[in-house]
Amino acid sequence: MVWLAVVIGYLLGSISFSYLLTRLLKGYDIRQHGSGNAGATNMLRVVGKWPAITVFLLDLLKGTAAVWVGNILTHDPVVMLLSGVASIVGHNWPIFLGFRGGKGIATTIGVTVTLTFQAALISGIFAILAIIFTRFVSLGSLIFAALLPVMIAILDYPQQYIYISFLITLMAFIRHSQNIRRLLSGTESKLGSQKPERK
Ligand code: G3P
Repeated sequence: MVWLAVVIGYLLGSISFSYLLTRLLKGYDIRQHGSGNAGATNMLRVVGKWPAITVFLLDLLKGTAAVWVGNILTHDPVVMLLSGVASIVGHNWPIFLGFRGGKGIATTIGVTVTLTFQAALISGIFAILAIIFTRFVSLGSLIFAALLPVMIAILDYPQQYIYISFLITLMAFIRHSQNIRRLLSGTESKLGSQKPERK
């Protein structure tokens, strides 16, 4: 049943709501616009506020749903987290879109809020503060991802959660490699900026 939870988690994550909604509303591929990312931040940039909020919530719910699937199939907290991680993998590398998807942060929020609420909350507060002060969503995302394993360790969650959350952090940093480069070179686009850098 572990494999089934992981496969269903991956397939759920592979549903790219930013791609589908942009196709529906605008007729084009979100990955050809703005930063090229299939995610809520890029939706905000190229489509609008409400579509971005919708995508953020749906991407988040994918992570939550994947955790539930793990729970229904096994009742094992570690499998629940693995199924959640699989949904993040699906979001980032979706089978339905040639393995070119998003950066996984909204889905990560869905997984971690469901399983490790306090760790997600504290990491989220730091991330939101970083976004408010710098207007770099990517920096907030990276801070969120980097703090997760630290908070999970500090707050005494199961040992396996710490190891698995490192995977989440690693994926977030891999998917944000372009953003990290742009942040370091001072060319990252800020929230509300009309001139995003293309991938
Ligand atoms: O979660 C995605 C965000 O951190 C960065 O998105 O479109 O600015 O590359 P984007």
